[in-house]
Amino acid sequence: MSAFAARRARLCAQMQPGAVAILPTAPEAMRNSDTDYLYRHDSYFYYLTGFTEPDSVLVLVAAKGDAPAQAILFCRQKNLEREIWDGFRYGPDGARTAFGVDAAFPIEELDGEMTRLLANAPAAWYALGHSATLDLQMKTWLQNVRRQARSGVTAPTVAHDLLALLDEMRLLKDDGEQALMLRAAIISGRAHERAMRASKPGMFEYEIEAELLHEFRRSGAQYPAYTPIVAAGANACVLHYNVNNAQSRDGDLILIDAGCELDSYASDITRTYPINGRFTDPQKTLYELVLAAQAAALAVVRPGTIYTDMHDAAVRVLAQGMLDTGLLAKAKFGSVDDVIAERAHQQFYMHGTGHWLGLDVHDAGAYRDVNAAGKPSRALQPGMVLTVEPGIYVRPAEGVPEQFWNIGIRIEDDVLVTPQGHAILSDAAPKLVADIERTMGKQ
Ligand code: GLY
Ligand code: MN
Ligand code: MN
Repeated sequence: MSAFAARRARLCAQMQPGAVAILPTAPEAMRNSDTDYLYRHDSYFYYLTGFTEPDSVLVLVAAKGDAPAQAILFCRQKNLEREIWDGFRYGPDGARTAFGVDAAFPIEELDGEMTRLLANAPAAWYALGHSATLDLQMKTWLQNVRRQARSGVTAPTVAHDLLALLDEMRLLKDDGEQALMLRAAIISGRAHERAMRASKPGMFEYEIEAELLHEFRRSGAQYPAYTPIVAAGANACVLHYNVNNAQSRDGDLILIDAGCELDSYASDITRTYPINGRFTDPQKTLYELVLAAQAAALAVVRPGTIYTDMHDAAVRVLAQGMLDTGLLAKAKFGSVDDVIAERAHQQFYMHGTGHWLGLDVHDAGAYRDVNAAGKPSRALQPGMVLTVEPGIYVRPAEGVPEQFWNIGIRIEDDVLVTPQGHAILSDAAPKLVADIERTMGKQ
């Protein structure tokens, strides 16, 4: 059984007997006249099918009595004319064989088939409130079923959020997913290394971005998992900077947050390094501080750790460092606990320390144990993949030592929780000061 079929079976086992799940893929989006935005399938749909064509819908029917569970795919028909222009299509027969579903129909038959499939089903599972198109389709299908009431046909009486089940499943990566995510992280790590080697003062941010994209693509990754951030000097203090059009200057640090998507799985790596290959003392001081914060966060990543402990560990180190370096005045804050209680560290560290990573760069999955009283932050489990990404961003301000002005640093790695602790997937990207300076030929 393929991983996709196994996931479908696990999902069906969580639904009521005879319940029906409906999951469309992502719509295409027009960019202008004859041009579409680059198509990317829906991650949930892909997770259950491995199928990447647009105009597709997966329908699952849970087993009931002697009737086994069924997976039914609706997709585009083969069309020689369109295939000449746009490329290969599986068509229902081809897709049924290649993707191991029980039945496949042309997408045009969806309305008729849904009326049949929803008849007498006890419940419908779909992404509640995500798609106006699907909400409207559900309305039409349910009305069609209810029209048969005089013949004794019943319509589902409850709707459930399908994504709640899928989010939990996606949180734990199976062996195939882990292997793919490692490959994605290795490609991205090498891309960061390539960018470091190519960097010279005076280069434009986009020239360095091109080095990353070159490495992604030549390694078989389809595209970046998100818009790369290549930020020189003060631009690194803009958290979501991505115009990447400024010229670097000798003495700048450069912050690169870039990861490829490989076969639908994301990587997400940040490295910060001097464009001239040699850290200044103030840069090195803050860099070592962020590195120590990351080490403290990584040290707690293991099964059983509460998700927020990772952030708390990083914040504690950063807050102490802010006092030690004078970023925060010791005269004003007696201790690290004061800094944290007053959230003073947020002047320089204003984001979280990580997120789930998987098919999406900010991946599916609840950060809290929604089934426990008070919904506490959840415990880590083997198979979860998350980023660990502390940073420090110093905007010029009164009372802030000038030597640190406009320094922006983030260090981000992709981490798999293992039964023994964790594995860093992204360590192909140089990270220690000595390794960076050696990579850049300055040591
Ligand atoms: N690159 C997006 C993030 O780090 O969350
Ligand atoms: Mn991230
Ligand atoms: Mn990132």
